Amino acid sequence: MTAARDPFAALDRMPRVRLAFLPTPLHPLPRLSAHLGGPALFIKRDDQTGLATGGNKVRKLEFLLAQAVAAGADCVITAGSTQSNHARQTAAGAASLGLAAHLVLYAPGGVAPAERSGNVLLDHLLGAEIHWTEERAPYAETIAQVEQTLRQAGHRPYVIPYGGSSAHGLLGYVDAMREVAGQIEPRGWFDAHVFASSSGGTQAGLLLGAHLGGLLTTTRILGISVDMSADRLAAQVTGLARAGAGMLGLDWEPDPAQVLVNDRYCGAGYAVVTDREREAIRLLARLEGILVDPVYTGRALAGLIDLVRSGEFRVGQRVLFWHTGGTAALSAFAADLLS
Ligand SMILES: Cc1ncc(COP(=O)(O)O)c(C=O)c1O
Repeated sequence: MTAARDPFAALDRMPRVRLAFLPTPLHPLPRLSAHLGGPALFIKRDDQTGLATGGNKVRKLEFLLAQAVAAGADCVITAGSTQSNHARQTAAGAASLGLAAHLVLYAPGGVAPAERSGNVLLDHLLGAEIHWTEERAPYAETIAQVEQTLRQAGHRPYVIPYGGSSAHGLLGYVDAMREVAGQIEPRGWFDAHVFASSSGGTQAGLLLGAHLGGLLTTTRILGISVDMSADRLAAQVTGLARAGAGMLGLDWEPDPAQVLVNDRYCGAGYAVVTDREREAIRLLARLEGILVDPVYTGRALAGLIDLVRSGEFRVGQRVLFWHTGGTAALSAFAADLLS
C-alpha cells in the first residue's frame, strides 16, 4: 500500500529560518461571544509569534529571510508606513540573523515624526537605519535608490517586498493554516476565518493552505480590507495565491468565489481611527483582556463585530479571528484612542 501523499510536503522542502514561537495559541473568546450573542468566536494569537512584540510578518519572514541568507545578503531593505509593523518585524528578524536593516518609511514631507513612539521607537532600538520618504514617492524607485547606494558602498542588500507579500512570504500562512488544523481537529472545523487584509499575503497563504488541507468547500476565508477596494485586493490575493502555489509546484489559483474581501470598513482611509475601531478595541480589551491596534486588527475586529450584529455570522457557527499583531503601534495612536 502506498502512503497517502502529504499535500504540504513541498512546503516542508522550502528554505526557512526559524524565527517564530510556533504554534501560536488558539483559544475561545467566551465573554465577547456571549456579549455579541452570535457565533462562537475564537482567536488565533499571531500577535504572539515572539519577535520584538510579534505579529503576522514573522511567519512570512521565516521564508523571506531564508532567501536573503541563501543570496549571501549582508543587509535587507523593506518599506512601509511610519508605523509599519512589517518594517519593525523585518528589523527584528534581520537583527536576529546578524543582518543590517534599512527601512524606507513614508511620512508627511518625508520627515521623521517629532515623537518617536510605537513601532518607530522599536525600529530605533532594533538598530534599523530609517530612510524617511515623502508619502507619495514611488515605492519601487525609492527602494531602488537605497539599494543602489548600498551596492555602491560594497553591501549585498536583499529587498523584502511591501508587507512581506510575495510567493515566498505567503508560505508562512500556508503553514499557519496547517497549524490551525492540527490545533482544532478533535473539536471540528471553523465556518470562517476573519482577519485584516492589506498587502494580501496573509490571505493568499491562508487560501492556499485551506486548499491544500481540503477545506475550501466548507470554510470561508474572509479578509477585511484595511485600505483597498475589494476588487483590487481580491485580484492581488489571487495573483499571490497562484504564485505561491507555483512555488510549491502546483498549477492552481483560487476560484473568484473563494477570494472573499470585505471593503465596507476601510472607507475612512488608512490609519484613520473611527468610532468602530475605538469600540472594537475597548470591547476586546475590557471583555477578554486582549489588545488590538486601530489600523489593522481593530479595524478587522470592528468588521467582524458588525457582521455578527447584522446576522452574517450566526448562532451555531464557529468563527476564528486571526490576531495578526500591531499592538506595538498603540501608543502612537493615544490621542485617537483616548478621545
Ligand atoms: C497587524 C497587521 N495585521 C494585518 C496585516 C495585513 O497583512 P497582509 O499585508 O499580509 O495582508 C498587517 C500588514 O502590515 C499588519 O501589520
